[in-house]
Amino acid sequence: MKLKQCVVIGYGNVGQAVASLISAREDMELYRVIRRDGVYDGNLQRGSDTLIANIELIDIVFMCMTSIGDGALAYDHIVQFAKEGIPVVICEKAALANFYPELKMLGSSIAYSATVGAAGVIIPAIQKYRSDVLSLHLILNGTLNFLWYRMRRGETFEKALACAQFKGYLETSKETDRESIINTEFLDVFRKTILSFNVLETGSYLRCRDLEVPSLSKKEIDKLIHSATHFRPYVEIGLHKTRCMSQFLRTYYSKGWYIHIGFVSVLEIDGSLAHLKDTFNGVGIFTKVGQRIIEIGKGAHVNVTAHTMIRDAERLLSLPRSS
Ligand SMILES: NC(=O)c1ccc[n+]([C@@H]2O[C@H](COP(=O)([O-])OP(=O)(O)OC[C@H]3O[C@@H](n4cnc5c(N)ncnc54)[C@H](OP(=O)(O)O)[C@@H]3O)[C@@H](O)[C@H]2O)c1
Repeated sequence: MKLKQCVVIGYGNVGQAVASLISAREDMELYRVIRRDGVYDGNLQRGSDTLIANIELIDIVFMCMTSIGDGALAYDHIVQFAKEGIPVVICEKAALANFYPELKMLGSSIAYSATVGAAGVIIPAIQKYRSDVLSLHLILNGTLNFLWYRMRRGETFEKALACAQFKGYLETSKETDRESIINTEFLDVFRKTILSFNVLETGSYLRCRDLEVPSLSKKEIDKLIHSATHFRPYVEIGLHKTRCMSQFLRTYYSKGWYIHIGFVSVLEIDGSLAHLKDTFNGVGIFTKVGQRIIEIGKGAHVNVTAHTMIRDAERLLSLPRSS
């Protein structure tokens, strides 16, 4: 059997976990790793190249770079491979949050269930029901859910944060103060929200870089931590304005659709999502014909993300390759 030749871009937490899963499989082989300082071979020996010479030998690419800025760098990498017909599995969020319409043109050669967490269940659920959606109710950030879940159980913010840091749940950031840490996670929610909105295919697309980035002030963060038992991080996307009475929501509007991102009272969240434990994420889909679909899965976990990417890869590799 010919082994599928895999390329990993970005050898951080997720990139290393994906590389280990590839190496443990009998049908895949790590062919190259693209890092900031150059291209490495499958044994992680540094070559002299900055580009891969024999691109036609590659069967699949795993995009595992840090989500930075508007994702232009990740986007360029993705397009470079996808336009050669090479499938790309993505967990990086900034490219899809800013170049969704362009990436969508690549069709079935990209997969990105790992971008929005919950073990990859949220994106496929939105795709499945999108033509019937009245509103989506989302818990999109495992780290924020973890912190507020722990504080609800009586832990201090500092203790919950130390635990999240130890477990590797935090998005990469140089900043260490409360406000920056929470707002870095809030940016992650923002990217995932805009991506979820675009996946709905409402007829208009949004790009994070065209919108005001939502952030919480120090005063708001202090208040949310002080009343942690009452609040939960929350997103709602719907054809009507939210009924939640929260001062901690940021609202966007696009051609009939309201997008709310922030924190609301736990009493205002649909039951199955209100008490999600640890790093769990989920989506509640309310349809125009009165259906209510709930999908839940673990978020903010490197191994879960890596396994979700491998599942996406299996699916892409089973499709006929576009030339
Ligand atoms: N951690 C999770 O549980 C999780 C879950 C879902 C999605 N994600 C997404 O997965 C991606 C990777 O997360 P991670 O936890 O593995 O992050 P990470 O440990 O910080 O590693 C990301 C890697 O990206 C590369 N990189 C960093 N800055 C770069 C730059 N300026 N230009 C080019 N490459 C750069 C580096 O690779 P080299 O060191 O090889 O140069 C770095 O090791 C992120 O986009 C994140 O949002 C993570």
